[in-house]
Amino acid sequence: MAFNKIWYTLALGLLLPFSYAHTDFFTSIGHMTDLINTEKDLVVSLKDYIKAEESKLEQIKKWAEKLDQLTDTATKDPEGFLGHPVNAFKLMKRLNTEWGELESLVLKDMSDGFISNMTIQRQFFPNDEDQTGAAKALLRLQDTYNLDTDTLSRGNLPGVKHKSFLTAEDCFELGKIAYTEADYYHTELWMEQALKQLDEGEVSSADKVYILDYLSYAVYQQGDLSKAMMLTRRLLELDPEHQRANGNMKYFEYIMAKEKDANKSSTDSEDQLEKETEVKKKDYLPERRKYEMLCRGEGLKMTPQRQKRLFCRYYDGNRNPRYILGPVKQEDEWDKPRIVRFLDIISDEEIETVKELAKPRLSRATVHDPETGKLTTAHYRVSKSAWLSGYESPVVSRINTRIQDLTGLDVSTAEELQVANYGVGGQYEPHFDFGRKDEPDAFKELGTGNRIATWLFYMSDVSAGGATVFPEVGASVWPKKGTAVFWYNLFPSGEGDYSTRHAACPVLVGNKWVSNKWLHERGQEFRRPCTLSELE
Ligand code: OGA
Ligand code: FE2
Repeated sequence: MAFNKIWYTLALGLLLPFSYAHTDFFTSIGHMTDLINTEKDLVVSLKDYIKAEESKLEQIKKWAEKLDQLTDTATKDPEGFLGHPVNAFKLMKRLNTEWGELESLVLKDMSDGFISNMTIQRQFFPNDEDQTGAAKALLRLQDTYNLDTDTLSRGNLPGVKHKSFLTAEDCFELGKIAYTEADYYHTELWMEQALKQLDEGEVSSADKVYILDYLSYAVYQQGDLSKAMMLTRRLLELDPEHQRANGNMKYFEYIMAKEKDANKSSTDSEDQLEKETEVKKKDYLPERRKYEMLCRGEGLKMTPQRQKRLFCRYYDGNRNPRYILGPVKQEDEWDKPRIVRFLDIISDEEIETVKELAKPRLSRATVHDPETGKLTTAHYRVSKSAWLSGYESPVVSRINTRIQDLTGLDVSTAEELQVANYGVGGQYEPHFDFGRKDEPDAFKELGTGNRIATWLFYMSDVSAGGATVFPEVGASVWPKKGTAVFWYNLFPSGEGDYSTRHAACPVLVGNKWVSNKWLHERGQEFRRPCTLSELE
């Protein structure tokens, strides 16, 4: 037993440095800032290396110049030159020792410091998965925020501080990543952009022939045969011997001829089939469409009559002694479901403390697998998160009490405070916070019932993107540092309120910090009594 344990510990010890290196960098700005510092360090040691190499070359140059003059004089009159005993001695000395020393200098490796620094830092470098993840995040942002490829490539995004553009080679790289994902729509967009930048005269090592090869295939995969042929023709103009392109051209011509034949005798039932699949595709879209529209701020606007019934007020937590003298600012964000926002509800100092406590513990956020009830990572939740207990810091404990005072709900049955950080492209697609009846009971182990309500602190502003949206009802709630929103996920009967389905939109520029408290049913029996009707 003990022996096993030792082996286990040893194995773990050996594995850790490597597993530590793979932390899904792209999901969180926190870990990416470390990389910026790593890169800065590497630049410093690279410059040291250059300096050392330059001074070495300088010494070698001086030696060469000195010897150049000397040998010039010597070769003109060798006997006269050697007639001077000092010259004879110095020739012996040079050849016996000095050339040898120079040889050592030439062979001397100046790169030691830099290379060993690289070796240490490399284990913390992002890997292929990180690079693909960051590229996919970029493609996701392009879709959600309706950004055209050119705008993205030229770096013309709203709210950016440090403009940055993509080279033709970068565009080609993005296109290739889309291609390996069989995402031919984005392959076409990015290969076309690469080509456009080259056509405009950008100097680059990207090769038009390669680009056209990918591009024509992506276009063909999307069913535009004549455009695929046009692109292949263009490729063949650049490289008439290109084997695959020649083969493809013949194939395209064959398909084209076959389609012409088939068109003549196409039947109604095929048309019908096509229409049905079209409808199916559209059926799938609405939520995603609504979600993305709300993220862009194009959400359904509330009618003015409805809006008039939204108020703001000073709230004392229903005569809570802690808030009678200093009530807090509360605003109605939405009516149904009721979403309220508290203003100036967490101070900058508290935010800093919470972030510092969470930072070393941030790890890729997980979700409950609806089939097994187990925790896993998922593409639809891209962020890093950590849990903070009230026991570990008076600040966390104070925050928990504040939530209890202002919601009137018992926080002793709540989950711990969750801190989440979304990097660029980080998001949480539409979901319910509560557990549904048809799911394995994810909260069974907790023994505190379902998630009755959600309290969400915004701990940062977000330069662009990052709204919390409710696609069922068309509400968008924009992050504002120091505020918090609150809503009930369950009706008083305990039934889930499906209108609370919500999402965290991808961050477009900047980064987003939130923390949330999920309050549970147990302990609220007298604080929020059950009603007789189910959906009241
Ligand atoms: C969540 C959530 C919303 C947001 O973590 O469950 O919905 O805006 N977050 O971060
Ligand atoms: Fe949520």
